[in-house]
Amino acid sequence: MTVAAVVVAAGSGERLGAGVPKAMVALQGRPLVDWAVQAFDQHRDVDSVVVVAPADAVVAITEGAAGRAHVVVGGVTRQQSVENGLDALARDVDLVLVHDAARPLVTAEVISAVVRALRAGAEAVIPVLPVTDTVKRVNASGVVLATVDRTELRTVQTPQGFRRDVLEAAHATARDRGVVDIGDDAALVEGIGRVVVTVPGSPECLKITTAYDLDLVQRMVSTQRMVGE
Ligand code: CTP
Ligand code: MG
Repeated sequence: MTVAAVVVAAGSGERLGAGVPKAMVALQGRPLVDWAVQAFDQHRDVDSVVVVAPADAVVAITEGAAGRAHVVVGGVTRQQSVENGLDALARDVDLVLVHDAARPLVTAEVISAVVRALRAGAEAVIPVLPVTDTVKRVNASGVVLATVDRTELRTVQTPQGFRRDVLEAAHATARDRGVVDIGDDAALVEGIGRVVVTVPGSPECLKITTAYDLDLVQRMVSTQRMVGE
């Protein structure tokens, strides 16, 4: 079965506030998107990579990818960007991994686990982590209403893996229903009544949303480098 990765990188990065699209922010001299492209390009389970880019960064990302990825322009919402990526897939692709460029340190193990579950027959697979903090439900004033049982709760990462036909059907149904702004592909698949299974994610796979997250990832990378030396 042929596996493609769709790396969505077309967001503006409002919350990071770097003044450039988040995917173009440098991590050790390389744009964030390049880290994800490299992880998928080098992975033996992945046959091709599509990057969904901000309109004004298509040329720079295409040059940076140096033939390792096919680059297309994104949409207004993440959901629309994923759709553009799906439209650009080669005909023979059976399995799709959708990944946020904002998660540059995605590990080979997580990619392998997602692909393994798909090859074993799952139609949708998400990497998750258990919730370790206590969770409370609060009202609009911040007053606690209840303590939530966290044993059933998971936080969700990417890459999320899908049978291509299932993901395309989920996106088509959402579009037909006028839904254009669901940021989680698995939620669209749940919406058409298909089964989504989980595999273990990794703390390294964290998403850069704020300046604090970028700083944390920068420190993680420099520590890894020191250990590797
Ligand atoms: N994304 C995308 N197209 C969009 C919006 C988001 O491809 N129209 C991508 C982002 O580039 C990112 C991933 O989806 O890799 C997760 O989105 P998020 O972390 O929200 O990134 P941004 O939308 O760029 O950030 P913000 O919401 O702070 O503006
Ligand atoms: Mg966003």
